Amino acid sequence: MSRQISRRTLFRAGLAGAGAVATAGVAVPLGLNWRGTSSAGVLLRSGRALPEPYQQPLVIPPVLRPTRTDGTTDYYEITQRVADAELIPGVRTPIWGYNGIFPGPTLVSRSGRRTVVKHRNELPVPAVVHLHGGHTPPEFDGYPIDFILPVGAKDDSAWGGMATHLHGALHQGERQYEYPLDQRAATLWYHDHRMDYTGASVWRGLAGFHLVHDDEEGVLGLPAEGRDLPLMIVDRSFAADGTLQYPALDPTMAKQPGVRNAYASGVLGDAILVNGVLWPYAEVPAVRHRLRLLNASNARRYRLVLDPPPPGGKGFVQIGSDGGLLDRPVTHDAIEFASAERFDVVVDFGRYNPGQRVNLVNELGAGSTRQVMQFRVGAKATDDSRVPDVLSSTPALAPASATVQRDFTFRTGSVGAMTGWLTNGKPFDPHRYDAMPKLGDTEIWQFQSDFHHPIHLHLVQFKVISRNNKEPGVYDAGWKDTVDLKPNEQVQVITRFTGYRGRYVFHCHNLEHEDMAMMANFVTT
Ligand code: C2O
Ligand code: CU
Repeated sequence: MSRQISRRTLFRAGLAGAGAVATAGVAVPLGLNWRGTSSAGVLLRSGRALPEPYQQPLVIPPVLRPTRTDGTTDYYEITQRVADAELIPGVRTPIWGYNGIFPGPTLVSRSGRRTVVKHRNELPVPAVVHLHGGHTPPEFDGYPIDFILPVGAKDDSAWGGMATHLHGALHQGERQYEYPLDQRAATLWYHDHRMDYTGASVWRGLAGFHLVHDDEEGVLGLPAEGRDLPLMIVDRSFAADGTLQYPALDPTMAKQPGVRNAYASGVLGDAILVNGVLWPYAEVPAVRHRLRLLNASNARRYRLVLDPPPPGGKGFVQIGSDGGLLDRPVTHDAIEFASAERFDVVVDFGRYNPGQRVNLVNELGAGSTRQVMQFRVGAKATDDSRVPDVLSSTPALAPASATVQRDFTFRTGSVGAMTGWLTNGKPFDPHRYDAMPKLGDTEIWQFQSDFHHPIHLHLVQFKVISRNNKEPGVYDAGWKDTVDLKPNEQVQVITRFTGYRGRYVFHCHNLEHEDMAMMANFVTT
């Protein structure tokens, strides 16, 4: 009980602050204009002119080298620190980066080989690292109150003492995360997951790719190496001085969580970056490329199209989803996705003429947020890649084999004095167990939304089995760890809980909703 009170008291402190700002400022009540919006969120306009699009080359985040490796394990080290980035040419923008860069370095692992990452925290606040999509033991999953304290800090009293009150695991300065990676080839990513402050931390730059390869994928002949491009798409907003602006109630991210009330439905920026570059261009030979699209935005949803489309259309051949390869490729004219979702697609630039410029356009955006990046198609080149008709074969989970169906609503509601985001009517409480699936059991979980809520489960990958009592949608294919719920939707997913016993979270991946309490626990027993 006392634990609950400390959590609630802390939260209420944030909410009271929000109320004060709302009275003084431009509160936009939640609930206005929900219909017809393509994303949950309110645009935070940049306070300065932004560069013209397609002027800066795309950068691929560097692949991190192991510090050592043995028969079973690859060991890595990452330091989280404040650094300067040059996001706008000639302007210095402070970021928080894994190894000081945004995105962080890409980790590349072999399925089944243990990956151990030692994180050192040189940031001014506690850090928590979550490998999104990882099938990870609970102690290494980045539970939101399992802090890596900043180097030199003895406890978390400078940050409200939250983890201490709530009995999180505190590590001083650094800690190791051990990932068995007993899972299929997939595009995973890692990001900060500190309770109440995830949105602000990721916005400053704490996100990176973690790719897993396996033999099944290796023999397919898919485009590889320089033709396999991870693309992390985010929106951000810049202040007049070139710093990243975010409407945190407490910019020091020490004691008061949350954003100004006007932005409680989500923070949207007017600048689009791919791999940390504003509206980049990429020079690509006229051959097939694999694009690993990751929506790492806090709240923004995208509908990406190729402009112009290739002759005959269907420019995107989807080969994978969050959890790895699809059984068979699916072709699309557009990819529509929400925060944290990954779409692994092949685009054959050989269908264009050398010299053509092909824009990746966001049909849900307007003005500056309609543009994402540009591909400049180069000369024809040898292309021995292919996209086989059969990519994988994964056993289906029969709905009849499910032992239980659990229902969860994701809706707005009051948390203390303010509007927050709730799961089954309740704000996040680390000590309330909202579901206790038995290890090895198959379950059906049904989600109901009031607004846009991308729902993410830790530990498992699931399959969407119905959307609004009909067949799954065109973007529901394959194994997923995040499903995009639009306003007033009902989605059923099926999953099997395997691997590890312990406490995990599931939550909305609109990071402002997550920080404002739309998170719950499941415990595998
Ligand atoms: Cu991508 Cu619980 O997070
Ligand atoms: Cu949400």
